[in-house]
Amino acid sequence: MYKKKSFFVTFEGIEGSGKSYQCKKLCNSLKKKGIDVTLTREPGGSHGAEKIRRLILTGLKDKFSKTTDTLLYLAARNEHLEKKLIPSINKKKIVICDRYIDSTMAYQVYGRGVKKILVDSIHKNILGNYKPQLTFVLKVNLKKAFQRIKKRKHINRYDKFPKKFYEKVQNAFIKIAKKNKKVYFVIENSKDTNKTEKIILNKFLEIFKK
Ligand code: TYD
Repeated sequence: MYKKKSFFVTFEGIEGSGKSYQCKKLCNSLKKKGIDVTLTREPGGSHGAEKIRRLILTGLKDKFSKTTDTLLYLAARNEHLEKKLIPSINKKKIVICDRYIDSTMAYQVYGRGVKKILVDSIHKNILGNYKPQLTFVLKVNLKKAFQRIKKRKHINRYDKFPKKFYEKVQNAFIKIAKKNKKVYFVIENSKDTNKTEKIILNKFLEIFKK
């Protein structure tokens, strides 16, 4: 039996890196072990935040300016935090979140050139202590990522960005991960193999049991 305690784990990576698939795999493996786990995502994850998600991701590519766009991601995050993340963590649940703060850094700040100070200052005001204890960054070869994206039914607007943009975003995730090796684990996930889910589960249990 595992001791009931809260734990916050996030997955980050570009589209086609396989993070949504791996989030589900980890969630199911933990459920099988009798662990109380909540799977959620950003942008979205709560009723209001899902509405903001629809506003951001559907429609024209350049619907909003990059700053408006960023503020919408942050608004969705605040809503998700208040309505779902904080209550779940306070109930001593394990929360697995598909994307979180590093996506805003990688896509908006490094990728689109939004001012870091804008994102940092809002994060400072809304996050409190609710920061991930463990983050998996899934790294993928760009050719493989595009192959995986092409197989999807729903393509969102970021799926139409050029290869260079994804290169930049992926490098940003790796740069962020290098700064804190205790929390971040970069996993190469270009091959469709079940080895990745095993590596993730083992790493999770190792850190969770500490
Ligand atoms: P997601 O549904 O995770 O896309 P996918 O499953 O294809 O990886 O995320 C939707 C998009 O939102 C994705 O293109 C990344 C983008 N995004 C940002 O640009 N900034 C953010 O802060 C977040 C959370 C997501």
